[in-house]
Amino acid sequence: MSIRIHIENCDDSFPCPDGSNVLRAMECLGRRGIPVGCRGGGCGVCKVKVLDGRYRNEAISRACVSTEEEAEGYSLACKLIPESDLSLRVIGKMARSFDISRGAFHFYGAPATAPHRS
Ligand code: FES
Repeated sequence: MSIRIHIENCDDSFPCPDGSNVLRAMECLGRRGIPVGCRGGGCGVCKVKVLDGRYRNEAISRACVSTEEEAEGYSLACKLIPESDLSLRVIGKMARSFDISRGAFHFYGAPATAPHRS
Protein backbone atom coordinates (compact mmCIF):
# COMPACT_ATOMS: atom_id res chain seq x y z
CA MET A 1 0.00 0.00 0.00
CA SER A 2 1.30 3.41 -0.97
CA ILE A 3 1.86 6.22 1.48
CA ARG A 4 0.12 9.48 0.54
CA ILE A 5 1.49 12.95 1.04
CA HIS A 6 -0.90 15.88 1.35
CA ILE A 7 0.38 19.44 0.87
CA GLU A 8 -1.90 21.83 2.69
CA ASN A 9 -0.76 25.01 0.86
CA CYS A 10 -1.96 23.85 -2.56
CA ASP A 11 -4.37 21.13 -1.40
CA ASP A 12 -2.59 18.52 -3.50
CA SER A 13 -1.67 14.94 -2.65
CA PHE A 14 0.50 12.30 -4.24
CA PRO A 15 1.76 8.81 -3.45
CA CYS A 16 5.25 8.27 -2.01
CA PRO A 17 7.03 4.96 -2.61
CA ASP A 18 8.46 3.11 0.39
CA GLY A 19 11.82 4.56 1.44
CA SER A 20 11.70 7.59 -0.86
CA ASN A 21 11.99 11.10 0.45
CA VAL A 22 8.98 13.36 -0.09
CA LEU A 23 10.69 15.73 -2.53
CA ARG A 24 11.96 12.94 -4.80
CA ALA A 25 8.52 11.28 -4.86
CA MET A 26 6.90 14.59 -5.84
CA GLU A 27 9.43 15.29 -8.59
CA CYS A 28 9.18 11.76 -10.03
CA LEU A 29 5.47 12.38 -10.54
CA GLY A 30 6.04 15.78 -12.16
CA ARG A 31 4.26 17.54 -9.29
CA ARG A 32 5.36 20.95 -8.02
CA GLY A 33 3.78 21.68 -4.66
CA ILE A 34 7.09 21.96 -2.78
CA PRO A 35 9.91 24.28 -3.93
CA VAL A 36 12.96 22.37 -5.19
CA GLY A 37 16.50 23.56 -4.57
CA CYS A 38 19.71 21.66 -3.91
CA ARG A 39 17.98 18.33 -3.16
CA GLY A 40 20.68 17.65 -0.59
CA GLY A 41 19.50 19.31 2.62
CA GLY A 42 21.64 22.42 2.28
CA CYS A 43 19.53 25.29 0.95
CA GLY A 44 16.32 25.08 2.98
CA VAL A 45 13.86 26.00 0.20
CA CYS A 46 12.00 22.70 0.68
CA LYS A 47 11.39 23.37 4.39
CA VAL A 48 8.07 22.01 5.60
CA LYS A 49 6.18 21.49 8.81
CA VAL A 50 4.64 18.08 9.25
CA LEU A 51 1.11 18.54 10.56
CA ASP A 52 0.16 14.89 10.85
CA GLY A 53 1.72 11.46 10.35
CA ARG A 54 4.81 9.46 11.25
CA TYR A 55 8.18 10.01 9.59
CA ARG A 56 11.92 10.02 10.06
CA ASN A 57 14.50 12.56 9.00
CA GLU A 58 17.79 11.85 7.30
CA ALA A 59 20.65 14.13 8.42
CA ILE A 60 19.43 17.75 8.32
CA SER A 61 21.57 20.89 8.18
CA ARG A 62 21.14 22.82 11.43
CA ALA A 63 21.48 26.00 9.40
CA CYS A 64 18.07 25.10 7.88
CA VAL A 65 16.26 23.35 10.73
CA SER A 66 17.28 23.77 14.37
CA THR A 67 17.02 20.95 16.89
CA GLU A 68 14.05 22.74 18.46
CA GLU A 69 12.29 23.12 15.11
CA GLU A 70 12.90 19.47 14.28
CA ALA A 71 11.28 18.51 17.60
CA GLU A 72 8.25 20.65 16.62
CA GLY A 73 7.82 18.85 13.29
CA TYR A 74 9.84 21.05 10.93
CA SER A 75 11.85 19.22 8.32
CA LEU A 76 13.25 19.40 4.80
CA ALA A 77 11.21 17.55 2.18
CA CYS A 78 14.43 16.28 0.57
CA LYS A 79 15.35 14.60 3.87
CA LEU A 80 11.87 13.58 5.00
CA ILE A 81 11.07 9.86 4.83
CA PRO A 82 7.39 9.17 5.55
CA GLU A 83 6.40 6.13 7.59
CA SER A 84 2.65 6.76 7.25
CA ASP A 85 0.40 9.15 5.32
CA LEU A 86 1.63 12.69 5.95
CA SER A 87 0.01 16.08 5.93
CA LEU A 88 2.43 18.97 5.66
CA ARG A 89 2.68 22.70 5.07
CA VAL A 90 5.40 24.30 2.95
CA ILE A 91 7.10 27.00 5.01
CA GLY A 92 10.45 27.53 3.26
CA LYS A 93 11.68 30.73 1.63
CA MET A 94 9.37 30.32 -1.37
CA ALA A 95 6.28 29.09 0.49
CA ARG A 96 4.17 32.13 -0.41
CA SER A 97 4.56 31.30 -4.09
CA PHE A 98 2.89 27.97 -3.46
CA ASP A 99 0.01 29.13 -1.32
CA ILE A 100 -3.31 29.20 -3.17
CA SER A 101 -5.04 30.57 -0.07
CA ARG A 102 -3.35 33.93 -0.81
CA GLY A 103 -5.16 34.18 -4.13
CA ALA A 104 -2.18 33.52 -6.37
CA PHE A 105 -0.40 30.35 -7.34
CA HIS A 106 3.07 30.80 -8.78
CA PHE A 107 5.79 28.34 -9.70
CA TYR A 108 9.39 29.57 -9.71
CA GLY A 109 8.39 33.16 -10.38
CA ALA A 110 6.10 32.31 -13.29
CA PRO A 111 2.62 33.42 -12.25
CA ALA A 112 -0.26 31.14 -13.00
CA THR A 113 -3.97 31.59 -12.48
CA ALA A 114 -5.23 30.39 -9.14
CA PRO A 115 -7.75 27.57 -9.26
CA HIS A 116 -11.27 29.03 -9.27
CA ARG A 117 -13.18 28.57 -6.03
CA SER A 118 -16.83 29.35 -5.86
S1 FES B 1 16.07 21.16 -1.72
FE1 FES B 1 17.70 22.21 -0.65
S2 FES B 1 17.34 21.64 1.40
FE2 FES B 1 15.86 20.45 0.30
